[in-house]
Amino acid sequence: MSNAQRLLCLSPAEPPALSVEAAAVPRPGKGEVVVRVEAASVNPIDVKRAGGYGQRLLKLKGAGKFPLVLGNDIVGIVETVGQGVTTRRPGERVFGLVPTGKVGAHASHVAVDARWLRPVGEGQDAAALAALPYTFTTLWQALRKVGLDAGNARGREVLIHGASGGLGRLAIQLLVRWGATVTAICSTANVETCKDLGATSVWDRQRTSLSGLPQRYDAVLNFGAWQDEERLIGALKQGALGSATTVHPLLPNIDKLGWLRGAWQTRRDMRRASGLAAAKGARYGWVVFKPEEEALDALHRLLSEGALALPVGISVPLSEARQAFAHVARRQPGRAILLP
Ligand SMILES: NC(=O)c1ccc[n+]([C@@H]2O[C@H](COP(=O)([O-])OP(=O)(O)OC[C@H]3O[C@@H](n4cnc5c(N)ncnc54)[C@H](OP(=O)(O)O)[C@@H]3O)[C@@H](O)[C@H]2O)c1
Repeated sequence: MSNAQRLLCLSPAEPPALSVEAAAVPRPGKGEVVVRVEAASVNPIDVKRAGGYGQRLLKLKGAGKFPLVLGNDIVGIVETVGQGVTTRRPGERVFGLVPTGKVGAHASHVAVDARWLRPVGEGQDAAALAALPYTFTTLWQALRKVGLDAGNARGREVLIHGASGGLGRLAIQLLVRWGATVTAICSTANVETCKDLGATSVWDRQRTSLSGLPQRYDAVLNFGAWQDEERLIGALKQGALGSATTVHPLLPNIDKLGWLRGAWQTRRDMRRASGLAAAKGARYGWVVFKPEEEALDALHRLLSEGALALPVGISVPLSEARQAFAHVARRQPGRAILLP
């Protein structure tokens, strides 16, 4: 008999076609752990995928075919461990990542590779913690693409677009901690938030055009909008480190133009942007999230130092998941968390 639940996303639709269904508790495969989920987040990508975004390319890894179980972040209790798992034990509280695939984190029980889990520290709140792994890992990958790390960030000038969002807030917190000087780009309503997080200066994108940005940055992170990519790369100084974006057109190009024309357009987009960065002597990259042990280790360490947090805007049970998806779709403040 089934005594577990999962949130199915039935077909591509806006608002999403969600349904909570009974399911069997999964069995852990070799190297896997079954986690009883306490909290899982709804990220912007989940809302996009629920509407059909990225279907063509994501189908290649089983992640585009509906019905889908979405979600990449989990916090919960280890129920069972599979063959070969020595790092985790039943009853342990863990947080971590579920790779993008057919079966995501929006469920009461999830089987996940033990490599993608880390222990939860004393007193850490499940909902607050569930907001972090996917977004932090993506940030970590973006920082690697631009060539910034704890050892070389001090004194660097970093420009962050989308600075008031999940990725942007974590980027400000981490880079300020590493000694970088951050300029945050955000909308008027979020200027004070970015300053409070530690940005040295804030560019209000609703009041001042990005074409006026000075060409003085060592690194640029675009978490805001692809249409601004060229102007952002233009703000790199000569001999800059690099520029990276999470809002590239890889998935939308293939969705809209099909495989052949989409791939051709993607190559064009990438070459144009990387050429502009290369003219500044800078490296350039598009980030595609994937689970990573190094990022999880870094997050685990930073959490133990109390160094990172994202505000939670809404926490609801699976049966009220529509509210969480609507919260993200309407860009309401704070992360959206499901409590299965
Ligand atoms: N490629 C990947 O693997 C990957 C992984 C994770 C996330 N992402 C994507 O990266 C982006 C950022 O993620 P997130 O979790 O930080 O999202 P988020 O929390 O929604 O934040 C995005 C921020 O961008 C700003 N923004 C929104 N629309 C904009 C526009 N048209 N022009 C300029 N700025 C705009 C908003 O701040 P202001 O209004 O204050 O400017 C918003 O706070 C999302 O699009 C997400 O889907 C991609």
